Amino acid sequence: MKKILVTGGAGFIGSNFARMLMKRKGRRKIVILDKLTYAGNLDNLADLSGMDGFEFVKGDICNGRLLDQLLPGTDIIYNFAAETHVDRSILEAGSFVKTDVVGTYTLLQMALKHKVRRFVQISTDEVYGSIEKGKFRESDPMKPNSPYSASKAGADMLVRSFHRTYGLPVIITRSSNNFGPFQHPEKFIPLFTTNALEGKPMPLYGDGKNVRDWIYVEDNCRAIDLVGRKGKVGEVYNIGAGDEKENIFIAKKIVSLSGADRGLLTLVSDRPGHDRRYAVNTRKIRSLGWKKKVPFNEGMRMTVDWYRDNEEWWRKTKEGSFKKYYRKMYKDRIEGGKVRK
Ligand code: NAD
Ligand code: TYD
Repeated sequence: MKKILVTGGAGFIGSNFARMLMKRKGRRKIVILDKLTYAGNLDNLADLSGMDGFEFVKGDICNGRLLDQLLPGTDIIYNFAAETHVDRSILEAGSFVKTDVVGTYTLLQMALKHKVRRFVQISTDEVYGSIEKGKFRESDPMKPNSPYSASKAGADMLVRSFHRTYGLPVIITRSSNNFGPFQHPEKFIPLFTTNALEGKPMPLYGDGKNVRDWIYVEDNCRAIDLVGRKGKVGEVYNIGAGDEKENIFIAKKIVSLSGADRGLLTLVSDRPGHDRRYAVNTRKIRSLGWKKKVPFNEGMRMTVDWYRDNEEWWRKTKEGSFKKYYRKMYKDRIEGGKVRK
């Protein structure tokens, strides 16, 4: 029976990916390894726990001894585990270096030892840095600008080196910004959606004109699965839907879908080192037969509906340590902010 290890599977994309695999017919074992940081949430996997072929293990990808016990018989590893929020990496970068770089290195070492047949590293388009015009290709150099993207780029370098030096069968995916169900409310779309539903200010950084290319999470999960099965070992695959939008456009869409007061939109001081625009060329993943299925507007409607219908889920994630983080990150900004007309 095929054994698949999904690290970081209690997070946003990893839990959507695990759900997609579990829905599929066929015998396989899916093991989730997750440290359950503030971002990891067992509620994200509630519908999967207890299903045949599903196992959850609480643990750290930096723990070599645990990996040594877990990896025998593993066919494929999808490494989603990471510290992922740019703003938090600006406040404190150490945990990003630890998990994203050292954790990936530890997993690579153990994958080599246990002769894993595929190692799929889930990276990000942010490793390329910002681009004013055009789109990054897989062959472009990495020029990361935040401690988060620099840590992810460090991991990509190590993944590449384990292929070139030791022949480990690795593949790297670099996707654009994801949105959809189960995304932590620290991130832009869920933060704005839940704040809109709560009637709280929606804090837009800078002039609100930074551009991200948004992909519905299930489209990214299908691309990652395809790369794991049909991708060429040693290669990098960009993933993106080509839906480039300014942040202000997204914010206004959330206002209209949620029925919130437009006066909640507030321009606040910018994020240091804020990348202006991300865009990736996706010819390579499309040549494997992938294309997006969920149009942007439909994805946004489904996402806002999901947060409206799952208030209990997001209210819990905004309790506890999140309150402290939110105050630190936003209090002065919002009080000094301007309402966008
Ligand atoms: P997330 O923050 O929602 O989830 C990360 C998960 O990793 C959490 O469950 C957390 O508990 C777990 N984790 C953290 N440190 C760990 C450790 N040391 N050991 C084991 N588990 C640990 O993140 P996400 O948005 O689902 O992102 C998943 C992956 O996709 C990341 O590698 C991220 O860099 C990449 N990515 C995300 C996006 C996006 O838009 N969200 C875009 C491109 C790439
Ligand atoms: P985010 O979801 O943090 O993703 P990333 O920075 O990794 O692309 O942010 C997406 C965009 O939204 C980015 O340009 C920053 C902006 N943003 C805001 O304007 N306000 C916010 O409160 C947040 C969290 C993000």
